[in-house]
Amino acid sequence: MSGLLAITLISCGSQTQQGGDSPETQAMSGSATMTVQDAQDHPGKKVYDNYCKACHMSDGKGIKGMHPPLVNNATVNGKPGKLIDITLNGMMGKVTIDGVEYNGIMPPHNHLTDKQIADVLTYVRQNFGNRSRAITVDQVRKLR
Ligand code: HEC
Repeated sequence: MSGLLAITLISCGSQTQQGGDSPETQAMSGSATMTVQDAQDHPGKKVYDNYCKACHMSDGKGIKGMHPPLVNNATVNGKPGKLIDITLNGMMGKVTIDGVEYNGIMPPHNHLTDKQIADVLTYVRQNFGNRSRAITVDQVRKLR
């Protein structure tokens, strides 16, 4: 089911201007708008709560100067490769994010399955006000 969701989310980019009421169009517009209710039900929320929330907080805003925000964040909403890499392998060293300096340690999460990583990153990219494309299990598998 989440595979289907990922596919429809990936293909929804150009659908806003189209009229018509084919089942395909309806399915796409249905999944393009993720409501709070949807986000609460997303399988990635559980992964986030278990593995990310302690540092990046339940609202994704992090703790200034310690754990960077995932809201409005260029890495989170940018190319999937870098985001997947950081999540799998962790990161450390000085970075400036949103004008604030961080020099902490983000632990690796390569003990999670490809699906858990895809789910949590999709959740992060489509929650907290972020509106980026889903991350697929395939994208994670290729980088592991
Ligand atoms: C132990 C605390 C901790 C946990 C748990 C944690 N992070 Fe992090 N995360 C950090 C820190 C600290 C940094 C910044 C590292 C640095 O200063 O170089 C970071 C950086 C990041 C970045 C890069 C931000 C940027 O703009 O470069 C992303 C994306 C990220 N974390 C996502 C996640 C996700 C997704 C999870 C859960 C699977 C997670 N983190 C779990 C502490 C944590």
